[in-house]
Amino acid sequence: MKKPKTYYITTPIYYSSGSLHIGHCYTTVICDAIARFKRMDGYDVFYLTGSDEHGQKVQQKAEAAGVTPKEYVDRLYAQIVELWKTLGISYDKFIRTTDDYHEKAVQKVYEKLLKSGDLYKSEYEGWYCTPCESFWTESQLVDGKCPDCGREVKLQKEESYFFRLSKYQDRLIKFYEENPEFISPKSRMNEMINNFIKPGLKDLCVSRTTFDWGVKLPFDSKHVAYVWIDALTNYITALGYLQDDSSLYDKFWPADLHMVGKEIVRFHTIIWPALLMALDLPLPKKVYGHGWVLFGNDKMSKSKGNIVDPIFLSNRYGADVLRYFLLREIPFGSDGNYNNEALLTRTNADLVNDLGNLVSRTTAMVTQYFGGTIPAPNEYNELDKELIELCESTLNKVRTDIDNLSAPDALADIFKIIQRANKYIDETMPWTLYKQGDTNRLATVMYVLCECIRFSATLLLPFIPTTANTIFAKLGIPAPTNFSKLKKFGGIGKKVKVTKGENLFNRIDIPKELAELDRIAAEQAKPAPKAEEKPANEPISIDDFKKVQLCTAKVISCEKVEKSDKLLVFKLQVGNEIRQVVSGIAEHYSPEYMIGKTVVLVSNLKPAKIRGVDSNGMILCASDGKSVVFVTPEKEIGSGMEVR
Ligand code: MSP
Repeated sequence: MKKPKTYYITTPIYYSSGSLHIGHCYTTVICDAIARFKRMDGYDVFYLTGSDEHGQKVQQKAEAAGVTPKEYVDRLYAQIVELWKTLGISYDKFIRTTDDYHEKAVQKVYEKLLKSGDLYKSEYEGWYCTPCESFWTESQLVDGKCPDCGREVKLQKEESYFFRLSKYQDRLIKFYEENPEFISPKSRMNEMINNFIKPGLKDLCVSRTTFDWGVKLPFDSKHVAYVWIDALTNYITALGYLQDDSSLYDKFWPADLHMVGKEIVRFHTIIWPALLMALDLPLPKKVYGHGWVLFGNDKMSKSKGNIVDPIFLSNRYGADVLRYFLLREIPFGSDGNYNNEALLTRTNADLVNDLGNLVSRTTAMVTQYFGGTIPAPNEYNELDKELIELCESTLNKVRTDIDNLSAPDALADIFKIIQRANKYIDETMPWTLYKQGDTNRLATVMYVLCECIRFSATLLLPFIPTTANTIFAKLGIPAPTNFSKLKKFGGIGKKVKVTKGENLFNRIDIPKELAELDRIAAEQAKPAPKAEEKPANEPISIDDFKKVQLCTAKVISCEKVEKSDKLLVFKLQVGNEIRQVVSGIAEHYSPEYMIGKTVVLVSNLKPAKIRGVDSNGMILCASDGKSVVFVTPEKEIGSGMEVR
């Protein structure tokens, strides 16, 4: 038997220093669609993602939050994993740079470089941008600030190890010339050559001594590895490079595609290949630098306060609505804008009108005219043949689109079947055929429509998997795992029974919904009341205090409250009792993170209904107005213990 071709695709590993927004989801969703498509197209796929957990920024944020860096990154890790679960991301492996195997392999990489002479000790002075974890030369600064993020930089001098990047300048240029597809889109290749390589590559400072949250260099433990070397090597350490079992590395390296945002192309196309050259390893086949999802023409970032929360959007509209928007709306390679109106308009136009209508009209007609069983077709006429030809030719088009990494084109091609089929309903007027009693023709029309749905739903599986699976359930046939049944029209067999059921998507009243979203945004933007605005605290007597019953409680389950991005509903073990409590900490903790934690409960609070959910008590939290942390006993103690 022929061995399936392999396909190794990676996203960048995400910084564990803040929550992820839809810009981050963009990279991951695109890679997911490509990975799913390739799997269905017969490839043996390995899709890698992960979290970038070391560095000064993480250390500082952890300190500010009063937790250890490990506790800090564990919390963010739980949030990232939850987000990918919500969006249906089908990664094969999630690597954390704090994983032991990764840290050990990074140490070995440094040892190798030292041994080969590509690493040497010297002193570094430069302008350092902490948020970007990047050193800049004076001439690279823009108005004295970081050229990437525009924030303040500070002059930093330290004893460091250097990687002989300059040595690889000529080999890099030669490699680009011999592999013109390596950096895509092409414009980014020119940018790298003109802005970075031509001015001359300098040796790269690859260790730090000013903080210690990183991989310690095995031969000089006051140095930690530069986060970018630590991070980039994830692409091979995840496969077992320099570890006992390197079978995945042997099978999948070099990567077929590193998908990255445009601002980190230079790390992936200069430092990364040079490092691989130094390690004498093959280079990845392609680095694709996609554009940004902008919000009002600005890159999304927490400090700019223009974050669009993917969990909120997924909870409100469904993950596929967000996936579809990101894949369809943002022109690939360029920047694209996010705004609520564009999301809602795209949803109504494509998912409600085109796809939803085709499925509901067809299943309703098969139910009405044939008792729900898809009839066998009779002779096909020219009109039918046009649709058959469209269905049979679409897989190849979509395959080309995916090879060009253009999800918008792929979706546009799939939707051509859907739009054509909707028009076919108007042209064939099945209701008239029914009235005329032309059952033969009506049967053919119904069969053609169901086949169009089968073709489009199969092709949609990589892009909007939940919806595509629902369509198969409605069609009454199992969802396929590959494209083999797309070669020939006529795949639906005998006695298949459709179910109309609920609409796939409900039409959104856009003006009303926009007003509601504005209201929610305004509510969220309200500043937390400042301590001094609270009424002056009157001293209370010990008897007053005794009225408040406080006790420990263990979280045994925790879920988000539907349609709320603030509320979590907890089941708490309080001694022998189980209590349900609603708490407004969803923006600060993921449900997964909370499970198993011990909290302090105000147990004699009057029961209340919050967003229709019963709440019997309150979980104690501390807040500085921005972040919120729950209060927990200093040592392990049982549940139901009195707190005084
Ligand atoms: N940790 C580094 C990557 C190391 S890879 C060896 C990093 N992390 S990140 O969390 O800041 O960004 C991860 C990815 O999200 C990057 O590809 C970045 O370009 C992408 N995006 C972050 N904001 C984005 C938008 N607003 N729009 C589109 N993608 C954006 O960089």
